[in-house]
Amino acid sequence: MEGKFVIEGGKTLAGRLEVSGAKNSVLKLMAAALLTPEECVIRNVPRITDVETMAEVLLHLGAEVKWQGKVLRIRSGEFPGRKAPYHLVRKMRASILVLGPLVARYGEASVAIPGGCNIGARKIDFHLKGLQMLGAEVITEHGYITVKARRLKGRNIYLDFPSVGATENLMLAAVGADGVTRIENAAREPEIQDLAEFLRGMGVEVHGAGTPLIEVKGGLPERGTDHAAIGDRIEAGTFALAAAVTRGELDVRGVNPFHLRLALEKMGEAGVEVELHEEGFKVRGAERYRAVNVATLPFPGFPTDLQPQMMVLLSLAEGVSVITENVFESRFMFVGELNRMGCDIEIKGQHAVVRGVGRLSGAEVSATDLRAGAALVLAGLAAEGVTEVMEIHHVDRGYENFEEKLRSVGANITRVMS
Ligand code: EPZ
Repeated sequence: MEGKFVIEGGKTLAGRLEVSGAKNSVLKLMAAALLTPEECVIRNVPRITDVETMAEVLLHLGAEVKWQGKVLRIRSGEFPGRKAPYHLVRKMRASILVLGPLVARYGEASVAIPGGCNIGARKIDFHLKGLQMLGAEVITEHGYITVKARRLKGRNIYLDFPSVGATENLMLAAVGADGVTRIENAAREPEIQDLAEFLRGMGVEVHGAGTPLIEVKGGLPERGTDHAAIGDRIEAGTFALAAAVTRGELDVRGVNPFHLRLALEKMGEAGVEVELHEEGFKVRGAERYRAVNVATLPFPGFPTDLQPQMMVLLSLAEGVSVITENVFESRFMFVGELNRMGCDIEIKGQHAVVRGVGRLSGAEVSATDLRAGAALVLAGLAAEGVTEVMEIHHVDRGYENFEEKLRSVGANITRVMS
């Protein structure tokens, strides 16, 4: 559904919000279901377009996919297809995560080369290098990458950078390798720990997820699993910042607060009151915020997926903050749109110099990617007057019932079909 969000700013948010299941876990669990012919059940699945696209990819590969409410039932069957087509991969580059399981199971897979996006080139060289280290042959032609391997051989492999996707693709490929594979310099994100849990549920031996050294013992699983995905830490962080910028008070539930502890600590440094609890955390805004410096880093560092939203809070702080984006090479595309709402942000290479301003003013703006769209909504909630956020298909990729959830805690936001 295309359309725009129309937001009347200045409302203070108050109440309780339940986050949905983590997009960046569920997409990988769906790919992992290709490792077995038995049925896999995934619970706590958000109804968002990225999950719909991944379901289309699995259907295209010949798997059965049934989606009832928050439950996905996937049965890959014996001989699914082996090619993730361009029209689906271009919609969602996470489709490349079918490479690992298909090569593990069938020794061959083809995936359209994913293009870049508005936050960077999004290369997949670490994925391909790791697959080659496991003995696969990689052929790139006519816009597709074909990976072939008669036998994958487990061994020590390493990543130049703790890439989330490369870690996951290689974990999944290693399930089909002979012997043990050790992935060094692995990413440590909670979603990777969730994937390891899912694999263990299928009887796969995986150790070390959440640390830089992950060990996978080869052996294709004969059974499926039934697994509830973790809560979405980025959606939770987005709501924490919505409370902060509207100087409101929210109880955010359905997430492990330790999955975004450093981000919450950083918000605390700026003056936001945060109190962790069993089900999530309580967050209370303040009248005045302090400027703080933020550097995005792989987990457990400050998540790049909360960088745009944090920029809105720092625009309301007193003083000058510097945000350094260390994960993606061009994740400041949206800053021009924020400045049209009265922010005073200057980009210097990988740094954004954010000068606090007294107030934001509503304007017509356009989302450039998923998290930038969320940040523009937060700016609209804090701004005086009306903000219209266009291109909200970006937001629908990763936020389930975004405007309904915000409205339920007092925001004046409506989706207007254009
Ligand atoms: C995952 O992307 C997330 N997406 C991203 O969330 C998130 O921002 C990112 O991890 C970092 O946390 C999903 O999980 C579906 P990376 P991924 O591989 O796996 C470079 C969102 O908004 N790189 O850790 O693609 C890459 O270009 C999205 O939900 C290579 O150079 O991230 C980037 O600069 C946005 N070669 C950096 O590494 C490679 O082979 C980190 O990428 C792989 C990555």
